[in-house]
Amino acid sequence: MDIAKVINGIRVDPASTAPMYLQIANSFMTKIQGNLLPAGTKLPPERELADLLSVSRTTIINAYRLLEERGLIATRIGSGTYVAEMPAADPQTPAMPWEQLFTPRYKSPLSSLLRNLVAAPTANKNISFAAGMPDPLLYPLNVIQEALVGERSSMECAEFGYIATDGYLPLKQSLTAWQSRHGIDTSAEKTLIVSGSQQGLYLIIKAFVEPRDYVIVESPTYLGAIQIFEASGARILCLPQSASLDLELLEDYLIRYRPKLFYTIPTFQNPTGRIMSLRDRQELIRLGARYRLAIVEDDPYGQLYYGQQPPPSLKSLDTYGGVIYLGTFSKILFPALRIGWVNAETAVVNRLSEQKQFIDLHSNNLSQKIIHLCLTEDYLEAHLKTVRRVYRKRRDTAASALRRYCGGHLDFELPEGGFYLWCDVRPPVSPDELLRCAAAEGVTFVPGQAFYVNGAESHQIRLCFVTHDDTLLSEGIRRLGKIFASGAAQRDDQSKMARKPII
Ligand SMILES: Cc1ncc(COP(=O)(O)O)c(C=O)c1O
Repeated sequence: MDIAKVINGIRVDPASTAPMYLQIANSFMTKIQGNLLPAGTKLPPERELADLLSVSRTTIINAYRLLEERGLIATRIGSGTYVAEMPAADPQTPAMPWEQLFTPRYKSPLSSLLRNLVAAPTANKNISFAAGMPDPLLYPLNVIQEALVGERSSMECAEFGYIATDGYLPLKQSLTAWQSRHGIDTSAEKTLIVSGSQQGLYLIIKAFVEPRDYVIVESPTYLGAIQIFEASGARILCLPQSASLDLELLEDYLIRYRPKLFYTIPTFQNPTGRIMSLRDRQELIRLGARYRLAIVEDDPYGQLYYGQQPPPSLKSLDTYGGVIYLGTFSKILFPALRIGWVNAETAVVNRLSEQKQFIDLHSNNLSQKIIHLCLTEDYLEAHLKTVRRVYRKRRDTAASALRRYCGGHLDFELPEGGFYLWCDVRPPVSPDELLRCAAAEGVTFVPGQAFYVNGAESHQIRLCFVTHDDTLLSEGIRRLGKIFASGAAQRDDQSKMARKPII
């Protein structure tokens, strides 16, 4: 098939009331549905198509984005844009108009890019620094075997029935005991087991936030949180992340906007890796108590320290019951078991539990049982000792590889724990061009823009240093160094303009 011929047939009418990107997307849709562009056909790069049709690159980006939303094309990082596989349709039956039936929704411009990034490591054997994923080779799989068939396995038929929405009671009790060893004084009644802390955050937002409510987040912050807050229709106030908490600005927000909540990751923050000092934590609690502020403390990384233990959690310093604590086993055991938890006042736990009932009735029993075993038999503590040692070495390997191969092109602070190196890329190299070149070399990471509300411009990139062993880590960073040295990732002004809407 001569793709140039097919594309030459596409006409754009500048006088039409329909936007040009829509005209282009509709022409492609007709050709794809009429099989003139069969599944698997590689479409021209955005810039090339823009030249061919004499339109701006932004127009093509928007047209491709719309086609992707309609499931007609798919982007493969580092490879290009392709016509997607279509389900076989009966020619007599018109396709279901799903798009017309869906409720209006928020769609982050980043979601498809990030889906690809997370899929990349298994799909292409990439060296991915993108997903915040533990090293799968370190998962303590023996625990699962033990839970299912080992001596300590006590699976009974009744345990495969429905259980209470707030969680498997033995797990809530063992979790309470484990948390008290780590300074959090809580109880089974004040604990809700959730399917990952992402679900916990969703429940909190559903329970507290209505469209146009104000919420405060750190900036930059966890992308998954930005996406849910944006989808909720909340107005988001940003508190810039720095070495110390800007308490003055925070108080100003509290007085001026009466926000519903403040979402913070005080320990080994995602993406910066920073720690909120003990003094700032105490001041924050003081301020929170004065203004009756609901503080959502998201703490997936607190146990992953590589030197001194971090300061106590906000929850353990809470004097007024205003802290809603989110924990997860995803980063310290198995992400796939999807078990996290919420600690809060009973009234909050009950309300979230009601909300959870609408979603999944309760989290998976088997997963809860396995985590319970990890806590009661001290598997978790033993595993934590191992991963702290291994990840600390990986952090140091990554840091020295960055200095060796990329020194002069980027700057970073050494994090004292967690998963991430947050790097400032020096101009004229641009993070999104770097990602494009890196993907072609089989390396991925997340550009900093993803962690800012509204995708604000950023010179940073986030590298997850825990997923790969020292050899792969160094190799991935060596490839990044090669791109810096070649000057390939520098951004010209034209592409800067065109690319802005994507990431
Ligand atoms: C700060 C933060 N919160 C929540 C999550 C989601 O974790 P879970 O797997 O428990 O849903 C992540 C995952 O990367 C995270 O970094």
